[in-house]
Amino acid sequence: MTVTATAHPNIALVKYWGKRDEAQHLPVTSSLSLTLDIFPTTTTVTVPGDLAFDVVTLGGEPAPDAVAGKVTAFLDLVRERAGDRRRALVETVNSGPMGAGLASSAAGFAALAVASASAYGLKLDRRGLSRLARRGSGSAARSIFGGFAVWRRGEGLGTAGDLSSHAEPVSAPALDPALVVAVVDTREKAVSSREAMRRTVETSPFYRPWAESSERDFHDMLAAIDGGDLAAVGEIAERNALGMHATMLGARPPVRYFAPGSMRVLDRVTRLRADGVAAYATMDAGPNVKVLCARGDGATVAEALHGLADVMAVHVAAPGPGAMRTGVPAHTRPVS
Ligand code: DP6
Repeated sequence: MTVTATAHPNIALVKYWGKRDEAQHLPVTSSLSLTLDIFPTTTTVTVPGDLAFDVVTLGGEPAPDAVAGKVTAFLDLVRERAGDRRRALVETVNSGPMGAGLASSAAGFAALAVASASAYGLKLDRRGLSRLARRGSGSAARSIFGGFAVWRRGEGLGTAGDLSSHAEPVSAPALDPALVVAVVDTREKAVSSREAMRRTVETSPFYRPWAESSERDFHDMLAAIDGGDLAAVGEIAERNALGMHATMLGARPPVRYFAPGSMRVLDRVTRLRADGVAAYATMDAGPNVKVLCARGDGATVAEALHGLADVMAVHVAAPGPGAMRTGVPAHTRPVS
């Protein structure tokens, strides 16, 4: 059985930062994101029946051990549910530049959830796929859906927590956004998001206050989206992200993802606003900056960021589709 699926990265506008259950990836707070139309990940899962162990490739090459280990742990969940112990061949192609801070793990686990569930014969609806993708990487729960999506924290731990913690789509007919990605550093980050998240929850005195204010941001964000108010959406997104980074700065030892180029982009975004362009910044567990604006302002914002020192590349994205099965296997796709 061979199944191929494609998924796109998502960028959180209200962040997921902190787990209440490490094993199940149950979040402390609800989050909200935009799935993009750039840099899809395509994954082909083949269950041939005669493999002694899982074979995992990335861009046609054997995957690094850390990646292969996560994929096997994920497939073990799928196999347990399917009652099928056969090993699989997993071929993944990321079309985006690695290290661009574009949540390749979110797109990767969303694509793997769709392809592996189907290859092992699990019949899951979108909600079930979102819960499954969550087990690979929390943020992957949201890439199952296109456009704006919320990931509700759910209630409780164990089975109750698992059943209630999944993403769902949010309709936003009055918004026509773009997300402009400014790449300032493509090196691998010194501290992984998983480790930074754990350290922040355990040691930062700023974590609890942020988590409380983030729940308010989440509700305000839903109202802003419902009202089609892009300026409010952007303001909430920016304050939520900067607050998340403040929690990391307070961790012991601190985690700092800001680089000189990040600061330049943040300054430029402030100046764009002073010049009347509604642009708002967000950052994840890395130095690259993503700027939310109206689709009609995307080119203006991209041009403003292009000229900055330390900005290596600028990508303009629009809302993209949810994860889906596709016909073209990953190994026949060109690696860019
Ligand atoms: C800063 O989903 O990568 O991008 O669940 O440990 O795999 P794990 O974490 P991950 O964390 C993403 C954190 C973030 C914010 C977000 O996407 O909401």
